[in-house]
Amino acid sequence: MRRLVPLAAFVLCGTVVMLAGQAPQAPAAAAPQAAAPAGGPPADWLPPTPKNLKVLPKETDPKQLMEIMRGYNAAMGVRCVYCHVAGPDPNDMSAYNFESDRKEHKEATRAMMKYTDAVNQAFPKEVGDPPKPGESYVTCFTCHQGQRHPPLKPKAAAPGAPAAAAPPRP
Ligand code: HEC
Ligand code: HEC
Repeated sequence: MRRLVPLAAFVLCGTVVMLAGQAPQAPAAAAPQAAAPAGGPPADWLPPTPKNLKVLPKETDPKQLMEIMRGYNAAMGVRCVYCHVAGPDPNDMSAYNFESDRKEHKEATRAMMKYTDAVNQAFPKEVGDPPKPGESYVTCFTCHQGQRHPPLKPKAAAPGAPAAAAPPRP
């Protein structure tokens, strides 16, 4: 039980950082693998009290939960329907079955939440500055960068654009 609290703190903080970083930008046009991140629920929409939390603390309230969920959308460039069972119209929030575990991406996400917690626990304490309270070294966004599949290499520069990588320094 004890491990779950820092995890929640991490996920929350990652969310806040990601949302702050993403807000002013238009959805990345150059992310062909990502569903359009626009079209999530309205800013003041809240889900019912969660019934099927297995990784987050059971007492996570709908408002905290929504910050975390919007963070996943932003970290991966997806919409709620990527992980949750929707009705015929994925914009109709009332037709979702959020507690259902039928979508494999939801189960994968639970594994990734635990993995990210483990990565943070294993982070070498002698490197860098310790994260501020409520923050963590590594978030979903650290790897995913707004994409379903985290990039493995730097992006190739577009024709005419400045070289993607500076020449190595001595
Ligand atoms: C990348 C996957 C992913 C995305 C995208 C996502 N969720 Fe979730 N969601 C999860 C996971 C995983 C859980 C269960 C967490 C747990 O078990 O502790 C969850 C749980 C929930 C729950 C609680 C359901 C219950 O009764 O237990 C709600 C409500 C919810 N999400 C709403 C949303 C909304 C709204 C969006 C879009 C803004 C969204 N989610 C986007 C993965 C996702
Ligand atoms: C240390 C890097 C790293 C971190 C941190 C990380 N991921 Fe991932 N994630 C990956 C890699 C690598 C894959 C495999 C990507 C692929 O299949 O191309 C992956 C795959 C996934 C998948 C399956 C993708 C799919 O389309 O089937 C989901 C869902 C996911 N991550 C969600 C998350 C969430 C949510 C978080 C934060 C709680 C997170 N990840 C944190 C690296 C990371």
